[in-house]
Amino acid sequence: MREYQQRTQHVLDTYLNDSDTPERLLKAMRYSALSGGKRFRAMLVYAAGLAVDAPLEKLDIVATALECIHAYSLIHDDLPAMDDDDLRRGLATNHIEFDEATAILAGDGLLTFAFELINQPSSNLSDRQCRLITANLARKSGPIGMVGGQMLDIQATEQKINQSELENIHKRKTGALIQSAVMCGALCNDQVTQIQLDALQEYASNIGLAFQVVDDILDIESSTEELGKTSGADIALGKATYPALIGLEESKKMAEKLYQQAIESIATISDNGALVSKTNNTENLRNNTELLHNLADLVVKRKN
Ligand code: IPE
Ligand code: IPE
Ligand code: MG
Ligand code: MG
Ligand code: MG
Repeated sequence: MREYQQRTQHVLDTYLNDSDTPERLLKAMRYSALSGGKRFRAMLVYAAGLAVDAPLEKLDIVATALECIHAYSLIHDDLPAMDDDDLRRGLATNHIEFDEATAILAGDGLLTFAFELINQPSSNLSDRQCRLITANLARKSGPIGMVGGQMLDIQATEQKINQSELENIHKRKTGALIQSAVMCGALCNDQVTQIQLDALQEYASNIGLAFQVVDDILDIESSTEELGKTSGADIALGKATYPALIGLEESKKMAEKLYQQAIESIATISDNGALVSKTNNTENLRNNTELLHNLADLVVKRKN
């Protein structure tokens, strides 16, 4: 995983460097995009791509674009009008380090830059891949996906909502971008089969929801030092979370169940896209999906 984290850091550092960008804006964009983080969405792009034999140089650009959109979402999520946080990845949040106007624009810049990256001539992606990946990423990060989820999250603050409403919020605000990372990685190979896409979709949908359930749990159980962001922020804000709705123990069971479902769904991916029996899991198959396995482990075992 470290290899792919470093790869992402290097590609981000290389591309997020256009001297035509106003200096303060570029500084603010780089501050948030290059400030570490687990690089989970980038690694998902590589993992899904590797599972279906997509070329690495195509995955580099897509992984970087996903991290730009993720960094934008964090900058805006932390703004005073949203979650009003002053700590992110162990550093001052963007609007504290710079100012609110700069933070809003740095977020806007990272979002649009992601699409520029994918569609630039040197992206190595075919026209068809650019079109499919752009459409998926726009849909999943936009009003029906992440942005829509953030709207519902704000509206649900201090409100009583039921479990299916909470699931809807979490699947959109966090699950949608995670799904997009997996699907866009897979779309980097034109030969990817519908069977492979369906299996990856199932995997992504499960770990996407699990990721936010665990984020809610960590907000209670981890320290600010471990998290690199303020722990206990959800309760302080009256956020709709799984622990608040069903309790910590049930939330942990749910994350574990989603993890198991994710692992089962990738047992059906093989090199040629044939449906492989879950009991006939060859070594080659295991290697192909090893990074996907490791990332599912990370979702439930992480401490930040
Ligand atoms: C935090 O995402 C925001 C959520 C969607 C829960 P991550 O936990 O992936 O944050 P970084 O990138 O590692 O900082
Ligand atoms: C964030 O959910 C989802 C995003 C789209 C950024 P949270 O608000 O729980 O994320 P953290 O805990 O601030 O990282
Ligand atoms: Mg939030
Ligand atoms: Mg937040
Ligand atoms: Mg959170």
